[in-house]
Amino acid sequence: MQALMCHAFGPIDTLRVEDVPEPQPGPGQVLVDVQAASLNFPDALIVQGLYQVKPALPFSPGAELAGVVRAVGEGVAGVQPGDRVIASSGHGAFAQCCVVDAARLMPLPEGMDFELGASFVLTYGTSLHALKTVARLQPGETLLVLGAAGGVGLAAIEIAKAMGARVIAAASNEDKLALCRQVGADETIDYSREDLRKRVDALTDGRGADVVYDPVGGPYTEPALRATGWRGRFLVVGFAAGEIPKIPLNLALLKERAILGVYWGDSVRRDPAGHRANMRQLAEWFAAGKVRPVISERVTLAQAADAIARLANRQVKGKVVVLPQG
Ligand SMILES: NC(=O)c1ccc[n+]([C@@H]2O[C@H](COP(=O)([O-])OP(=O)(O)OC[C@H]3O[C@@H](n4cnc5c(N)ncnc54)[C@H](OP(=O)(O)O)[C@@H]3O)[C@@H](O)[C@H]2O)c1
Repeated sequence: MQALMCHAFGPIDTLRVEDVPEPQPGPGQVLVDVQAASLNFPDALIVQGLYQVKPALPFSPGAELAGVVRAVGEGVAGVQPGDRVIASSGHGAFAQCCVVDAARLMPLPEGMDFELGASFVLTYGTSLHALKTVARLQPGETLLVLGAAGGVGLAAIEIAKAMGARVIAAASNEDKLALCRQVGADETIDYSREDLRKRVDALTDGRGADVVYDPVGGPYTEPALRATGWRGRFLVVGFAAGEIPKIPLNLALLKERAILGVYWGDSVRRDPAGHRANMRQLAEWFAAGKVRPVISERVTLAQAADAIARLANRQVKGKVVVLPQG
């Protein structure tokens, strides 16, 4: 089969498409013919050896996919060859076949094609877990989303609207902000040229945001924390800007703000029933037209390394889908 391979942690442009033997499903695992996979920021980190998980070399990147089950390993129940599924694979999805733990699989939701299915689990799973389970976002509250035109950012906008919140979306250019409004953001801020804190203050009559969703880090975190209101909740989701900010803790004391970490992957492992309930909720919202991944580009395996590099350089919007069979 064809796969995008990483032989050594290093620059993204060293990734190559190669012919490799098909993997075999072990006990508790399932072999899936990958019809579509999608890019996520961790793909850029994992191949450079900068992610918290370091797979054994060589490996294929690709953390989420949709496809058809080809074979099941020993002890797998409730999944059969021919089933249409979606999965978070951690890595391995940028290939024509991928072995996934059966526990990380769910049926392709009703009405969803493979491209949408491949763009659903990780971004929407993360954002629902963050907003519902961690922040306990309430109807009528105001949410500020940073990096709002990215994968998890757009999902956060749609989910917060489905939960009845008001959403302020922040991103780095007008094109990205227009997309945020298209998926439901009530207000937008261009944080590349506007003062984030002052604009949030103005948009909330000085009260500040109730919840902040921060997948970016770097220079935006401190002004966003200062823009969080009394007893607001600040979600630490990621550091796409590359820098892990150091925050003066008096900012937590001053308004009784809570700074809350989000680690979706580990939460799925620790609370599989909670994860399944969240995915059922998301499938219902998809069926009702409340959430729908925005696919901005479709690429082949041969084009995937270039797309990962563009994602790492802030040059993509929404989701980029990889089509490994094409
Ligand atoms: N905690 C968890 O469980 C969890 C789960 C999934 C993902 N994540 C993390 O969430 C973050 C976002 O993931 P994603 O897949 O949504 O990524 P993405 O689609 O690339 O979105 C990230 C956004 O960050 C912004 N950004 C600001 N400065 C940047 C820089 N120097 N380089 C790159 N991007 C920059 C960009 O928006 P602007 O250009 O508009 O600023 C971009 O749209 C990543 O750090 C990822 O590791 C965490």
